[in-house]
Amino acid sequence: MSLLTILPIASSLAPTASPASSPILLPNTTGIDGELLSKLGVDRFFSLWIVFNNEDVITSDKQFTILAPKNNASIQVPMERLKSHPESVKKLLLDHVVLGQRLDLGIGADLSFTTLGGRTVQVKSKPSGLIANGANVATDKVDVDNGRLIVLDNYLFPEDLTADHSFVQDMTQILGFLQGGVRVFQHLLARSNVTKLLKKDEDYTVLVPTDRAFQRWHPIDWGFYPFSVPEFTEMVLLNHFIKGAIKQETLVGSSTVTSLGGRQITFAKTNDGQITANGVEVVKGDTPVHKGNIMFVTEVLFVDEGVVSQLHEEHRDKETPPLLAFPWFGSQFLSHAFVALEADNRFKHLTRFLNQADLAYYVSGAGYTFFVPIDSAFQQLGLEHAPDNVLASSEKGMSVLLSHFVKTRLYDKDIKDGATFTSLSNRTLHITRKPGTNGTVEGADIVEKEVFVYNLGTMFFVNRVIFGDEIPYDPNSPTPTTTDPSREPTTSMAEDIDVTTGTDILLDDVASTATTVQPPAETTTQPSATEFTPSVVSSKKK
Ligand SMILES: *[C@@H]1O[C@H](CO)[C@@H](O)[C@H](O)[C@H]1NC(C)=O
Ligand SMILES: *[C@@H]1O[C@H](CO)[C@@H](O)[C@H](O)[C@H]1NC(C)=O
Ligand SMILES: *[C@@H]1O[C@H](CO)[C@@H](O)[C@H](O)[C@H]1NC(C)=O
Ligand SMILES: *[C@@H]1O[C@H](CO)[C@@H](O)[C@H](O)[C@H]1NC(C)=O
Ligand SMILES: *[C@@H]1O[C@H](CO)[C@@H](O)[C@H](O)[C@H]1NC(C)=O
Repeated sequence: MSLLTILPIASSLAPTASPASSPILLPNTTGIDGELLSKLGVDRFFSLWIVFNNEDVITSDKQFTILAPKNNASIQVPMERLKSHPESVKKLLLDHVVLGQRLDLGIGADLSFTTLGGRTVQVKSKPSGLIANGANVATDKVDVDNGRLIVLDNYLFPEDLTADHSFVQDMTQILGFLQGGVRVFQHLLARSNVTKLLKKDEDYTVLVPTDRAFQRWHPIDWGFYPFSVPEFTEMVLLNHFIKGAIKQETLVGSSTVTSLGGRQITFAKTNDGQITANGVEVVKGDTPVHKGNIMFVTEVLFVDEGVVSQLHEEHRDKETPPLLAFPWFGSQFLSHAFVALEADNRFKHLTRFLNQADLAYYVSGAGYTFFVPIDSAFQQLGLEHAPDNVLASSEKGMSVLLSHFVKTRLYDKDIKDGATFTSLSNRTLHITRKPGTNGTVEGADIVEKEVFVYNLGTMFFVNRVIFGDEIPYDPNSPTPTTTDPSREPTTSMAEDIDVTTGTDILLDDVASTATTVQPPAETTTQPSATEFTPSVVSSKKK
């Protein structure tokens, strides 16, 4: 006879709806009889299992091990808890089950395993006997049909039973128990300071957006994810909390409350009982906790296209880029910077010189600052007719070029008077800045600041070439230009790609990604290996 069916069914223990209502997997306890349990002195523990009655469960046909605390364990779970905190009791029970094997603790060595509830149990072999977490093992092996019982003198996670039952603690435990379906909210909440604002004795209601609700704002491959901006996320989360316990059954017609972030949330109930919050569907029922209530919503409140596009404008530096195969596959910052500069007619000279210099090795990956001289900077040095390889052909020239890069992402706020940075040529760059100006780097004025290259790095446009007078070139005896400056630079660059990577595959890869990628709503350009319109713009773009 099944253990679960011999126990009285408490109809008052209505299952609490969860958005992640995948059935709960339980061990096959059919073969355990009640007499054995009372003989072992663990029947109180097993009586808690009625909490799973009326619940959507699947009985596994796998072997199991159940670690059962004795009736006289120092901590007890009062039966009222089944009603007041069913989810936490379920979690507690699952944390005493291992599915898939009959655990053998008597191997004389320490071992650890994961419970069905997802927690880790450490077993230590001491001269006095076996210890599982803090509990002594009273009997390490009682075999039953399909599995094994291990009798403990206490619960494995007693701290869960001495919980303070503040709203935050209960909510965290329940969201952890639900796992699927609300992971994003949990993840963001754990990284925010919101829970620190909740008082221990206060009642709260939280509207938890489902993973799908957050997913809607996730760029599929590249773009801008609004929840990568911590201050924004903090505010959005805070606006999903309301002071006081609001229960769905007590809602009638329409009522407006204020969130902890000070925004208005209007609950409305339709005639057929469907509840909405600011027009967003509330799914499933209440999930009451000791000091409040949890509800689930299908959209993130207070976030829409307008809000996101404004945020995007302000946080260009958090935008993730498409993968560029050209000009330098291994140097995404350099490639994206190059593509952006090429599209801007102020950098004709810089791009032709850069094109000849193989910087990919020095400027690999991301996380750089590039001080980019505008064309007039090269004209001042008489380099407007210099050959494309004027910098690439000498060590001095390369050193000058590398002096324009710093291996860190600098922001305008880092350009402080007296600051120094080490460039990729290992030469020190000195910053000066008078109040109200953009500052100078080695005497070159910054004429445009903080031009973000996605989240890869930053460019500052400057009016002079740093250490430019060291470039070995005599404008009075110019060698004829060897390359047509207007030619498509990426064609020759293509050959620079590591042959072992296989250019065609790369191209195919990017091209095929491009067809499946949905660009962020505000972009209409499809990324493509050969034709890519950069969205690199200054944050101060007018
Ligand atoms: C559970 O175990 C019993 C024997 O104890 C067996 O008859 C039954 O088929 C098992 N159920 C499942 C789902 O494996
Ligand atoms: C619990 O009962 C066992 C006998 O079943 C006894 O040995 C043990 O000392 C008891 N523990 C406590 C804490 O009373
Ligand atoms: C959270 O608080 C810490 C310390 O007060 C602070 O450094 C951090 O920026 C805060 N995080 C957010 C997202 O506000
Ligand atoms: C700069 O110094 C580092 C460490 O000393 C060295 O690895 C690197 O090659 C140097 N770079 C140049 C361009 O000389
Ligand atoms: C300073 O930077 C801003 C924004 O990048 C730019 O508009 C302005 O012209 C710069 N000022 C000078 C004096 O170049």
